[in-house]
Amino acid sequence: MEKFDIAKYAAIVLAAGKGTRMASQKPKVLQSLLGEPMLFYVLTALKPLFCKNIWIISGHEAEKLASAFPENRFIIQTPQLGTGHAACVALQNPEIANCEFMVIINGDTPLLSGEIIQKFMGQADDCDLAFATLNLKNPAQFGRVIRKNGEPVAIVEFKDFDSAKFPDWHDEVNAGLYMARTSMARELLTLVTNNNKSGEYYITDLVGLALEKGLKVKAIPCGQTPDLLGVNTPAELAAAENILADRQVAKLLGAGVVVHAPQLVRCGPRVKIEPGCEITGPCELYGQTDIASGVIIDSHCVIRNSVIGSNCHIASFSHIDNAQCGENTRIGPFARLRPGAELAHDAHVGNFVELKKTVLGAGSKANHLAYLGDSIIGPNTNIGAGTITCNYDGKKKHETNIGKNVFIGSNSALVAPVTIGDNALVGAGSVITKDVPEREWAIARARQQNFKPKLKK
Ligand code: UD1
Ligand code: CA
Repeated sequence: MEKFDIAKYAAIVLAAGKGTRMASQKPKVLQSLLGEPMLFYVLTALKPLFCKNIWIISGHEAEKLASAFPENRFIIQTPQLGTGHAACVALQNPEIANCEFMVIINGDTPLLSGEIIQKFMGQADDCDLAFATLNLKNPAQFGRVIRKNGEPVAIVEFKDFDSAKFPDWHDEVNAGLYMARTSMARELLTLVTNNNKSGEYYITDLVGLALEKGLKVKAIPCGQTPDLLGVNTPAELAAAENILADRQVAKLLGAGVVVHAPQLVRCGPRVKIEPGCEITGPCELYGQTDIASGVIIDSHCVIRNSVIGSNCHIASFSHIDNAQCGENTRIGPFARLRPGAELAHDAHVGNFVELKKTVLGAGSKANHLAYLGDSIIGPNTNIGAGTITCNYDGKKKHETNIGKNVFIGSNSALVAPVTIGDNALVGAGSVITKDVPEREWAIARARQQNFKPKLKK
């Protein structure tokens, strides 16, 4: 990686806009792709290059951005009068003003890579203003780059673009990545007006203004790279997410993970999967999820923020959220592990079993139709089909403790708080409201009576 004198550069991420075209309540840069907000990707690309020298311009729902990215530095732009205004607001920060250059990037570019920024900066060299361009088959609403004799003369925004005036314009657009000499920006941004169709102060007007002053302006073609594609609409968000999903799967395949139906696997950027795992799509893996070697994940599983130990088998249609599964566990099909579910090694959780805030001991089994909430269950215990821990009394949650080598008969209700001692047994169909001591058997159901029916004559 080519080294830049990082002290010379401040990276500015423009993220104050509302994202009107998204038609969503959420700020655009918090829209999620593979379970992470758009801004996550932009910052991940920037951090290795700029370290802490990154500022995010926020405005619309600024508090939400700040709480989603607590470790980052924000500059508030209110009201949001356009990208030129955003750059102006950034320059009011003395740390930025003291840098020689600002590298400015639109916050709605989730496909951004460190490589493209580096390449761009290398070519931008010591220009007064440089900007990256794309050649797009579908230039959508990007700003149009106008050249004369091969040299850039202006960027004309989509709304203000009259094709009759620019018959030579073909397909070159502004990518939304700029490098601006701070002294130039300070002087020229004050000259930018909002005399255009949007009534906004455009950063792109700097091009014409800098050229008028005889400054060095460079348009740097980046071809058709998806890395700089902006996301403005739900359709563009979906397209970007597909590209990210393909990139992630390619990484998995390259790292020795077997992937069936790869086009249907959605794997977030923070998910770690060791070589020797096998995954079948459709499947969604998100958040901080660690999957150890030898794990098999069948189709239709959704796993989020969870740790899966080696050689686990997660059968189809299982949902695992903020849970931990030890080595050799078997889960599903149709299992649901909710936050705080912890399976020790060799535990089994079968179909239509739900666990919440529950520890299931080593080798213990809950194989069919059960709800286990706020429970601690020891090793080698069998939870029969239809067992329910009644953990909620309408106001508070209570705990159920079940020891080791316990047998809970089918269709039992364990009314918490309650403790079932080691080696105890609960008869099928019991409603257990009192503790069961170690090694004792409890049956809590009406005794069966058999009748001869009296038949009417
Ligand atoms: C912008 C460029 C366009 C370029 C395109 C590339 C301008 C005027 N136009 O258009 O030439 O082809 O990006 O994707 O810059 N923002 C602020 N404060 C504001 C307004 C916007 O921070 O006052 C932020 C937005 O949150 C967004 C970014 O700036 O992340 C770009 O704004 P957007 O409205 O998406 O600009 P485009 O119309 O896409
Ligand atoms: Ca945009």
